[in-house]
Amino acid sequence: MTDLVQLSKDKNVAIITINNPPVNALSPAVAQGIAQAIEQAGKDDGTKAVVLIGGGRTFIAGADIKEFGKITSGKSQRGAGLLPLLLQIEDVRKPVVVAIHGSAFGGGLELAMAGHFRVAAPNAQLGQPEVKLGIIPGAGGTQRLPRLVGVAKAVEMCAEGNPITAQEALRLGLVDHLIEGDLLPGAIAFSREIVGKPALKTRERNDKLGTPSQNSPVFAAAREKAHTKQRGMMAPLAAIDAVEAATRLSFEEGCQVERQLFDKCLFSDQSKALIHAFFGEREVAKIPDVPKETPTLPVNSVAVVGAGTMGGGIAMVFANAGISVLLKEADQPALDRGLANIHKNYQSSVKRGRLTEQSVNERLKLIKPTLSFDDFGKVDMVVEAVFEGMALKKEIFGQLDRVCRPGAILASNTSTLDIDEIASATSRPGAVIGTHFFSPANIMRLLEIVRGQASGKEVIAACMQLSKKLGKVGVLVGNCRGFVGNRMFGPYRREAQFLVEEGATIESVDKALFDFGMAMGPMATGDLAGLDVGWRIRKEYRHLEKPGVRQPFAEDRLCELGRYGQKTGAGWYKYDENRRAIPDPEVNDLVREWAAEAGIAQRKLSSEEIVDRCIYALVNEGARILDEGFALRAVDIDIIYLNGYGFPAYRGGPMWYADTVGLDKVYRRISEFHQQHGELWEPAPLLKRLAQEGKTFAELNREQAVVA
Ligand code: 3HC
Ligand code: NAI
Repeated sequence: MTDLVQLSKDKNVAIITINNPPVNALSPAVAQGIAQAIEQAGKDDGTKAVVLIGGGRTFIAGADIKEFGKITSGKSQRGAGLLPLLLQIEDVRKPVVVAIHGSAFGGGLELAMAGHFRVAAPNAQLGQPEVKLGIIPGAGGTQRLPRLVGVAKAVEMCAEGNPITAQEALRLGLVDHLIEGDLLPGAIAFSREIVGKPALKTRERNDKLGTPSQNSPVFAAAREKAHTKQRGMMAPLAAIDAVEAATRLSFEEGCQVERQLFDKCLFSDQSKALIHAFFGEREVAKIPDVPKETPTLPVNSVAVVGAGTMGGGIAMVFANAGISVLLKEADQPALDRGLANIHKNYQSSVKRGRLTEQSVNERLKLIKPTLSFDDFGKVDMVVEAVFEGMALKKEIFGQLDRVCRPGAILASNTSTLDIDEIASATSRPGAVIGTHFFSPANIMRLLEIVRGQASGKEVIAACMQLSKKLGKVGVLVGNCRGFVGNRMFGPYRREAQFLVEEGATIESVDKALFDFGMAMGPMATGDLAGLDVGWRIRKEYRHLEKPGVRQPFAEDRLCELGRYGQKTGAGWYKYDENRRAIPDPEVNDLVREWAAEAGIAQRKLSSEEIVDRCIYALVNEGARILDEGFALRAVDIDIIYLNGYGFPAYRGGPMWYADTVGLDKVYRRISEFHQQHGELWEPAPLLKRLAQEGKTFAELNREQAVVA
């Protein structure tokens, strides 16, 4: 036996404990250890039942995801996987009771289903999340799950990947008993009770598999849902096919179908991209010069200054995490408006069934409105979210410096302003940092944490830790204009406008990028955010524009006509009372007129060119940001785009996507654009170098971690 798996005994019950911290991933060595333990327990005449349990904080979070990369890169062979082990467990002539706490995910749940009984701690979670990695269950999960929970639920769990609670699992028959209190003694007691009772093999249980007439509408509905909710992804459809095989074929044949589909998904670019995103989300938490051991500052109470669009949302984010919030406004009407919006947002969550009245009331109790700085001396952190203007921000930070206690974190939600200049208004620039939430703050997962020159390491560590507590993905970025996300979004939206000015219709630009997988096209995104936001920024920074360099103009002209987007009922599109976008031929005509006046030749643009122009604009700017050290790694940029900008996860983020296309190809295309369109398209030096050396952005992750 390996030291990853221990076999012990409590009188006549054998106990197999898996110890592969942190999440007991089922690496080949763990699987081997379990196989040996099962064999030994099976042979032992004194053993009447077996309990299989996870040591540490969880049962088993699945197969070891790191193994997949080794298989697809050819570094290790794809063997028979876990299937033989699961058959061995199912066939052992002693009842196997699987005891679950924490997560039984992926291969972990598949293993649990091979046991004859399952008991669980009340807070356990069970799921087949493989689709989120672009694969499907690969150890019989699509075949055993419908036999335990029925076809409809199995399809949902395998195709959508969301876990269920222990209570639901009990109701569905996936778990036989819940154990309050200590799990192991409870599981041992349960196993003594079932000795002598029939121990069913899951693979032989066919009573929940339904009939073709019952199942066919289930599969049709699941496929339709996958096409809309998981647009562009192949794994959900493969998962549905695999569960369908369970209803039509024998268990063994079904497993073969599952294996073929699993392999197809595993070797796809989609799965590689999603696995990159999984590890990337964890990688961004690692900051080379702010190691895990860095002391952090506790954040148990906060204040938010400004209860507008962002401040109100940010206050909700804290309240949702159980942190009390002082919410300060400039005057009573603004405070009332802010609170009314918070109430409205929470009410809509109640209406949609996402929250109960009671939990909303608890959250609202945590938000304390105020018009003064009186209680600011008590809080651990302040997030400023007042209007975007340097003078106002400096005034507020000067005030915070006077009222906040030493050690409090002073954060700004600015989207464009210089954090160092804001910090200069205080006597403690080390306490100042940017926390750039995305709109709507209570929904969007991304949090850019903007490191100023002086930001203290314990302040950075505290904000990174806080992001997790808030349910956000915190990414550390440097202090440049637009930080990382918006700095890249500028060229992306600029190209989208250029394309329209050169002859593409508004709808064709949006459609090309939507079909590429973006959550929304760039023109519709502009309408949603408000075209006037960019217009104001462009007016403010016009003096920085280089004479003779082409600038987009159509959006500014639309703003001059009062077309600010959804908020004024019209922008690039017209909007009905339900804020549904309706194409407006008048705008396409107007742009044609303006383009003629500006002497811009009109031509037909393919969707391929539309995608290349917009996406490569992101990549080129991303490469500059990396080179200048404003992002730590390419993967940080990817995680920003996946969580804040609706970039399709199955493409892994802009930098990963560029690696997938091949940097030499991307570089050549950008060089063509450079020749055709001038200096805005000058290839980023880093891109050029990597292309010439035949390298990728991902390789750079390992070679070089720059601290901004
Ligand atoms: N394989 C390898 N490493 C894993 C892993 C897995 N299945 N699950 C988690 N880890 C690693 C993480 O990368 C992280 O490593 P790090 O500390 O070096 O960054 C560490 O374990 C801790 O993970 P988290 O930071 O995510 O810890 P949390 O407590 O926040 O979350 C969790 C725990 C809910 C289990 C979460 O890690 C998770 O969802 N894991 C993935 C589950 C999954 O997708 N399972 C299916 C795998 S595929 C499969 O089983 C195929 C099968 O059908 C054959
Ligand atoms: P907003 O205009 O909706 O709200 C600003 C609020 O600040 C107003 O309610 C105003 O009354 C209040 N305020 C002004 N002076 C104050 C003072 N002295 N004390 C207390 N409150 C005061 O603005 P929004 O959109 O919420 O933006 C706030 C900040 O967040 C800005 O820095 C903006 O750049 C940034 N941001 C905005 C995003 C967006 O999509 N709206 C996204 C990310 C960041």
